[in-house]
Amino acid sequence: MLNQLQREILELKKDKNAIILAHNYQRKEIQEIADFIGDSLELCIKASELDDVDLVVFCGVDFMAETAYILNPDKKILIPDRGAECPMAHMLSADDVRAARKRYPDAAVVLYVNTLAEAKAEADILCTSANAVKVVESLDEELVLFGPDRNLAWYVQQHTDKRIIPIPENGYCYVHKMFTPGDVMARKEEYPDAEVLIHPECDPEVQEMADHILSTGGILRRVLESESESFIIGTEVDMTTRLGLESDKETIPLLSEAICENMKLHTLEKVKNSLINEEFAVTVPDDIAERAIRAVKRMIEVS
Ligand code: 13P
Ligand code: SF4
Repeated sequence: MLNQLQREILELKKDKNAIILAHNYQRKEIQEIADFIGDSLELCIKASELDDVDLVVFCGVDFMAETAYILNPDKKILIPDRGAECPMAHMLSADDVRAARKRYPDAAVVLYVNTLAEAKAEADILCTSANAVKVVESLDEELVLFGPDRNLAWYVQQHTDKRIIPIPENGYCYVHKMFTPGDVMARKEEYPDAEVLIHPECDPEVQEMADHILSTGGILRRVLESESESFIIGTEVDMTTRLGLESDKETIPLLSEAICENMKLHTLEKVKNSLINEEFAVTVPDDIAERAIRAVKRMIEVS
């Protein structure tokens, strides 16, 4: 049952011909009113297919809204709180990418979508945690500069014969860094029959304890398709909210403190404000968007 504020937002959305896109880490009350909820890749693909809408309210972090703008420069892309930045995306500048290319002129540059638009403009192709191995395998080059997440780079290296060089050397997500092997052991003791599903942004020692290493969209599919009834979820805590909306199975956060504060900046009040005042518009300078779109589209084709 939706509350008054949620119903007002749905009305406003209709009046403004708007759509609400939300990442799997959003608060429950936002997930409940979203038109589409997904992982980074699913949101990117959805953003590439927006036809008859005038406004997009993006409940996610900056790089996601920027990618939606790059794919839809004619539409208004709004973010309810403009402070919703992904710290990891800010760990790799366009200058860093150019410097790495100089050092390794024969390498391909694969960047995680968790990057700023200016860095995307320097990439050959993007990837997400859902398609990183496939993207790397699609390239002719045997040497790949991969950033900014070092743990995802490690995961890809386990699944390819190509040589992966992380750029920067130690990019990371502060949320997924919180998990330790001790946390996995403790949860496994509490729930011995549960499947352990871990996101590839986690440290290698944690990934090594997983039954499956998956993107957030992959985690949802696994929960729906697996015969298990219980799952330990090694990613941001609100992933279990999404799973709870889609399934009755038992899903236990690996660590209830694993909260992405940046994602949580969006609230229902701010979503309403965003629709009423059509703020805060996310844009990318034309010259950067024109270069970045090649890498975005190339990733979508490979996916
Ligand atoms: P996915 O939803 O693509 O798995 O990524 C997780 C994440 O941390 C996004 O910032
Ligand atoms: Fe960025 Fe980590 Fe938050 Fe994802 S969970 S948005 S990678 S800080």
